[in-house]
Amino acid sequence: MKKKILTIVLIISLLTIFGLILYDSVNNSLKVKTESTIDGQNITKEEYIYKEELLSLGYNSNIIKKIEEKISTINVKNYLLNKKYDYLEEFTSSPYFKIENIERYENYYKNNPSYTFDQVVLYVEIGLDYEFYTNVNTIEDYTSITTLVNKYNKLPEGATFDNLVTLEKPYSNTGKRKVREEMYEPLKQMIDDAKKEKLNLYVISAFRENSTQNYLFNNSKKKNGLDYALTYSAKPGHSEHELGLAIDFNTTQEKFKKTKEYAWLKDNSYKYGFVMRYPENKVFITGYGYEPWHYRYLGIEIATKMYLEDITYEEYLVKYKN
Ligand code: DAL
Ligand code: ZN
Repeated sequence: MKKKILTIVLIISLLTIFGLILYDSVNNSLKVKTESTIDGQNITKEEYIYKEELLSLGYNSNIIKKIEEKISTINVKNYLLNKKYDYLEEFTSSPYFKIENIERYENYYKNNPSYTFDQVVLYVEIGLDYEFYTNVNTIEDYTSITTLVNKYNKLPEGATFDNLVTLEKPYSNTGKRKVREEMYEPLKQMIDDAKKEKLNLYVISAFRENSTQNYLFNNSKKKNGLDYALTYSAKPGHSEHELGLAIDFNTTQEKFKKTKEYAWLKDNSYKYGFVMRYPENKVFITGYGYEPWHYRYLGIEIATKMYLEDITYEEYLVKYKN
């Protein structure tokens, strides 16, 4: 009996050893087939294929090393094997780089060779390589105070807010303007503090219904032509006024920028969570002319960052939210 058991154990052991040897040799023979040596380095089959392909596209070993460091194998496969990109290495150095947009970066750079590579990536991530009002995204979840509406992002049809409150006189000229509840107190505080500095701030436009925005845009077009309307008025669905989070102060004439009220607002509004949304030096990003009277509520944290870095909300979102 004991002998029988011993024989069975021996057979099982021999079979196991034999099995292991067989497995190893098959594995090794596969490895021999799949491994290759490039630049004295052993690499696996997948990397071998991509390296060969990248080399044959015209990338040199240094760039390929960077590609391997910064771009996952699957993304190399999905985005880089069809053609050679002239500035891939430069674009990958931008903190906002996204491999899926490499083609757009290259095209935008070709059309704007004076921009730095970082600027190209930033502007493409904002969407500036598309014409304004093309490639428009409809925002489904629009109730946050951080919702972005601009020429690429619009509110859905029938968007409504259930927390609009009336801004009484003397904070607003009619005593009937409506704003979102979130900014009601900060807005009044800002106007009160300005008053302590003997400054007279009051709101002449706040929340607008979609139909009002539509009327304003068309009216501006009729009076001043399409180009002017596009520069100073948002198309319906695209205005921050429809969010109830934008206000126009005192007058919508450029002379406002010469007033003491403007000088104070410009440097103090961020402390209350407001930003001048359409500055003079960022027209090409916002798509709107200089509007020294138009302020957007975004909360103190975001407004402070935007003020200190002199950036638009579009730039802020690419830099900090993507
Ligand atoms: N004037 C700004 C752009 C608006 O119409 O919302
Ligand atoms: Zn406005």
